[in-house]
Amino acid sequence: MKPRILVTQLVPQPALDLLASVGEVTVDPDPDRILAKSELIQAVKRADYLYCLLTNTVDAEVLDANTNLKIVANMAVGYNNVDVAAATARRIPVTNTPGVLTETSADLAWALLMAVARRIVEADNYTRVGKFTAWGPLIMTGTDVHGKTLGIVGMGRIGEAVARRARGFGMRILYHNRRPIDPAREITLGAVYVDLETLLREADFVTIHTPYSPETHHLIGATQLALMKATTFLINTSRGPVVDEKALVSALLERRIAGSGLDVYENEPTIEPELLSMTSNTVLLPHIASASLETRTRMALMAAESVAAVIRGERPPNVVNPEIYDSK
Ligand code: GLV
Repeated sequence: MKPRILVTQLVPQPALDLLASVGEVTVDPDPDRILAKSELIQAVKRADYLYCLLTNTVDAEVLDANTNLKIVANMAVGYNNVDVAAATARRIPVTNTPGVLTETSADLAWALLMAVARRIVEADNYTRVGKFTAWGPLIMTGTDVHGKTLGIVGMGRIGEAVARRARGFGMRILYHNRRPIDPAREITLGAVYVDLETLLREADFVTIHTPYSPETHHLIGATQLALMKATTFLINTSRGPVVDEKALVSALLERRIAGSGLDVYENEPTIEPELLSMTSNTVLLPHIASASLETRTRMALMAAESVAAVIRGERPPNVVNPEIYDSK
């Protein structure tokens, strides 16, 4: 019998082709179809190789649906949707897709930052509905980006890529991370390590690039938002629950911060309704940081290669729980 592979949502064709060359693939052709938990459990019962996405919660119950499960390949760099400890306890490798989406995700963080600072979406709507009847010195005035202070929360691969772009804008770069990065990289990036409080007090733009974990849950809450200047913008392209969305809504409504560009939400895809009606100080995107066709194809192939490696009897690349390979 061919290895049975479950792909939980439609992914770029090259990845499906690769998987089809090593096994029998089950995938729903509807790209918007997300498996309910009960459906995921039923599907995992019939597949020994799980290729999943951030829309799937892969917890102990899902892992236990098939005692022969060989891999959980998550097509994302973030893997907070997978209970890694439970997978480790069952000696199942969990893989992610780091590196290939770094530059694309940094581009999008910048697109959001620029869009909210210069009111791009609002100005586009203004133009389309016929309001551009005369040029005016006060029409759609936004906020300068160049020369300002950028605060990067989470200086991993994507944070660094964001910092590199900021240099071109002549920005002062502050960053906060679990621990400072290598001093030589700090110099190359022109980035200065500060505590979170200093970053929030001083930055004109705060951009979040930290993974989500119990430690980063609501890292930016009411207390942290209160430290920010009324002229500061908050950009989040990491994971929604890093920001307390209700506290963010209050800060925006009360004009305690200037605006926000969001790609991710606390209870995705549900969004706080007030955010949806704030069109002058927020730009909202549907979790598309890595969504260029080139990058999504690279991510999809990377996850597929992990599955193929396990089928060949090899240790897959990008294992996030390598301890399962330690001798017992
Ligand atoms: C996307 O959000 C990812 O983690 O790859």
